[in-house]
Amino acid sequence: MQRPRLALSFPRFCVRRRISALANGRPSSLEILGERYPTDEVTNITPAILAKLPLRLHTRPAHPLNTLRTLIESHFPDFTPLSSLSPLVTPFKNFDELSFPPDHPGRAVTDSYYINKNLMLRTHTSAHEVEVFRRGADKWLLTADVYRRDEIDGSHYPVFHQMEGARIFAADAAGMRAVEEDNARLRARLAEANIEIEDVPHVSGTNPAQATHDPVHAELVAQNLKLSLNGLMLTLFGGAGASREAPLRVRWIEAYFPFTTPSFEVEVFFRGKWLEILGSGVVRQATLDTANVSNKIGWAFGLGLERIAMILYSIPDIRLFWSTDERFLSQFTDKKITTFQPYSKYPSCFKDVSFWTAQDIALHENDFCDVVRDVAGDLVEDVLKIDSFVHPKTSRTSLCYRINYRSMDRSLSNEEANEIQAQVVDRLKQQFGVEIR
Ligand code: DAH
Repeated sequence: MQRPRLALSFPRFCVRRRISALANGRPSSLEILGERYPTDEVTNITPAILAKLPLRLHTRPAHPLNTLRTLIESHFPDFTPLSSLSPLVTPFKNFDELSFPPDHPGRAVTDSYYINKNLMLRTHTSAHEVEVFRRGADKWLLTADVYRRDEIDGSHYPVFHQMEGARIFAADAAGMRAVEEDNARLRARLAEANIEIEDVPHVSGTNPAQATHDPVHAELVAQNLKLSLNGLMLTLFGGAGASREAPLRVRWIEAYFPFTTPSFEVEVFFRGKWLEILGSGVVRQATLDTANVSNKIGWAFGLGLERIAMILYSIPDIRLFWSTDERFLSQFTDKKITTFQPYSKYPSCFKDVSFWTAQDIALHENDFCDVVRDVAGDLVEDVLKIDSFVHPKTSRTSLCYRINYRSMDRSLSNEEANEIQAQVVDRLKQQFGVEIR
């Protein structure tokens, strides 16, 4: 990307840390989790995001994300739990090693956070698959914070938590016997449960098995994946199990992921709605080959913890997970899922900003949202683009965004919101050369 969008994105670092800055205002290096890294023209990580890296909510006692992690870990008691891998990965590890094509949109600087062109914040826990398989783990669960540039609303946050699970078997007769035994055990358990499963064929024309796999092996492994995850859905959403009146409905849908085939998504019918819960599939052999375990065959899944926790705890806004307010934190105890009691809803304060974008500096919606997050932090509830047009004569683009400021913890005064809005406007002018209308 040629745009000089980072020109002024680090003024606070320069002042506070007195590190040498390049001519355009970007610091020449950044300290992240105790190490210093050089920046370059793709650097787009903001101070607001950097501040999240050490927090590791999924390991905080009594935090809903930690409780959900431990619940899933106890559902898979013989899987090795991992939860302390660094969020800094190479794009190679995040994408290439997992067979993502070179033009995959996730690689764009508008979608992901880069420290420099060789180092980024992982966008998913799958980034660690090769490394964990290479260590020799056959069944494992990995929980971590992941980062994606995104819009702002009640269910999107640029940092969230995922859990990756995987299991591999020896790709020989003995390995397949183990799969069959496990499948029989899991099937017997599900037969006793109050669950209704809508399935798709494990393999189809649009969701093929891998050419290098024995089709019988691939089928057994896909069955093991589905049986294992149906059991997990019962643990998470089955309530009191058999005493639940209506059966838990789970459906399997064909999906596509670059690093699995066949691939599936799982949806659960919960409180009147179908909810997307996870992505999964039979691991591409290329991944296992890279990890030096080419004699294995197996499955993997990835799920978003916030999404599930919001449902199970009735947490209405994703920002709440980051709250340090005692009225939030004191509601939870370890190992127990309880219903969140909203303590109050403070009034919204809407502020609009209309501007002409600069002709030569691209302003992606995610750039706009990162400016807002960096200035306003969690005081912003959502951002909505309410108008966009191109002037027919000058070809200039005009945008109007409505920012909804609302604190989760207190009443925000109009003056305070005006002050924050003024800072947002300043940053937009400095960083993106916009002209306020
Ligand atoms: N990494 C995927 C995502 O973030 C989720 C996923 C899909 C993980 C399929 C997997 C998998 O392990 O097999 O959307």
